[in-house]
Amino acid sequence: MEVRLQKFLAEAGIASRRKSEELILKGKVQVNGVTVTELGTKVDDKLDTVTFNGKRVGEERHVYIMLNKPEGFVTTAKDQFDRPTVMDLIKGVKERVVPVGRLDYDTSGLLLLTNDGDLTFKLTHPSKKIEKTYSAKLFGKPTDENIKEFAEGIEIDTGKTHPAKIEIIEDLGKYCLCNITITEGKNRQVRKMCDAIKHPVATLKRVGTGKLNLGDLKKGTYRYLTDSEVKYLKSL
Ligand code: URA
Repeated sequence: MEVRLQKFLAEAGIASRRKSEELILKGKVQVNGVTVTELGTKVDDKLDTVTFNGKRVGEERHVYIMLNKPEGFVTTAKDQFDRPTVMDLIKGVKERVVPVGRLDYDTSGLLLLTNDGDLTFKLTHPSKKIEKTYSAKLFGKPTDENIKEFAEGIEIDTGKTHPAKIEIIEDLGKYCLCNITITEGKNRQVRKMCDAIKHPVATLKRVGTGKLNLGDLKKGTYRYLTDSEVKYLKSL
């Protein structure tokens, strides 16, 4: 909801509305990083970031990011071995976002990050069964029997997996290219499933989460989700 900046400051307990007007006129208030001295300025309590004396006022606005994670980055804020983390790739983002789920160190592709805790909880909850699609290069070529095993669920160390799809895209001789779709997010799940059918993963890249696609987002770069993408994720 849009409100006048002085009202926003007053409601956040910074000062009375009149005193807040003075603070604005004195150039003490920033909206999205820019000092604002206009009293008529309106701010959106969900979308704008207001700062006073260098500190954020009110709740942090929610941001939603899609990163194309390269191999060789961990999906945690800090790594015990000091390896590069996905946070190194989103230095331009001021909000304290966290990854939605994980991708292995040696997996690339679509990783969502947000500071919207409710959405993170929802998207990572096992009951949601959101489809995650991977483009995989496997050793050898899975047989029709292997494809059936995927569809029926495969026994891995953490139990039987939910039905999954494997579609052969191209036979490269020693390898084959496949699309693999799972609805869970167990640790190293795709790799373990492919090990179980004796066609281990050579390379793995996540290309889709639900209806969201990585598209042509360059490796190592990120973009903000569109309003309709955010709306879609919230509707799941
Ligand atoms: N499955 C894996 O094995 N690794 C990932 O990073 C994601 C899914």
